Amino acid sequence: MLHNSTSYIDTVTLGVTGASGSGYFLRLLQSMVNNNVKVFLLLSEAAQIVLKTEVGEDWPSEIHSLNHFLIKRFKAKEGQVTALASKDWFSPVASGSSAPNKMVICPCSCGTLASISQGLSNNLIERAADVIFKERGQLIVMPRETPFSTLHLKNMLTLSELGATVMPLAPGFYHQPTSIEELQDFMVARVMDHLKIEHQASKRWCE
Ligand SMILES: Cc1cc2nc3c(=O)[nH]c(=O)nc-3n(C[C@H](O)[C@H](O)[C@H](O)COP(=O)(O)O)c2cc1C
Repeated sequence: MLHNSTSYIDTVTLGVTGASGSGYFLRLLQSMVNNNVKVFLLLSEAAQIVLKTEVGEDWPSEIHSLNHFLIKRFKAKEGQVTALASKDWFSPVASGSSAPNKMVICPCSCGTLASISQGLSNNLIERAADVIFKERGQLIVMPRETPFSTLHLKNMLTLSELGATVMPLAPGFYHQPTSIEELQDFMVARVMDHLKIEHQASKRWCE
């Protein structure tokens, strides 16, 4: 798998699917950029629809335009955030010889949850997750649905047994949040902790 380039503290593949909760990934991606992490961004078609519906942001669908847009949107360095097309099988994340060894799917739809639990690899998000499993890397999936069906729960169990961390988008309230952003940052902090990346997103228990 990919060894980290010296200018970034880490490299992470961030898959974004069409579950509700675009605000979570926006703040997670911003936190990664702010903390000098290089990101390969994989956005599903449904993720773009949900983003527009929930946040009102209409991002370019063409990949070169999207990459230009992302630098400005997240105040990223040139090359820090690279969006990849859903069938870009020649990209670094599609092969065990070049993929980062950390991947987060936030939010994770129940459709993608099912696909990756069965190793379908029908798009780049699914393929990148499959590569993580075969290379024994770190995969964190952040599903959002309510209630969960028995099938959703079985798929989560399968993923957990395969070594993934299943981290439902279910923020706590004990830090007494006063804004949506503070609730979102609760989840950002949890995932950044699991990735072992320094962050300033949220206070820890007892702080
Ligand atoms: C506004 C909106 C909200 C959605 N919320 C959820 C959700 O919370 N959880 C979920 O599993 N699917 C949700 N969906 C349905 C998924 O987007 C849909 O199943 C899609 O096929 C997922 O594809 P993807 O996994 O490739 O992104 C939502 C769709 C829309 C348009």
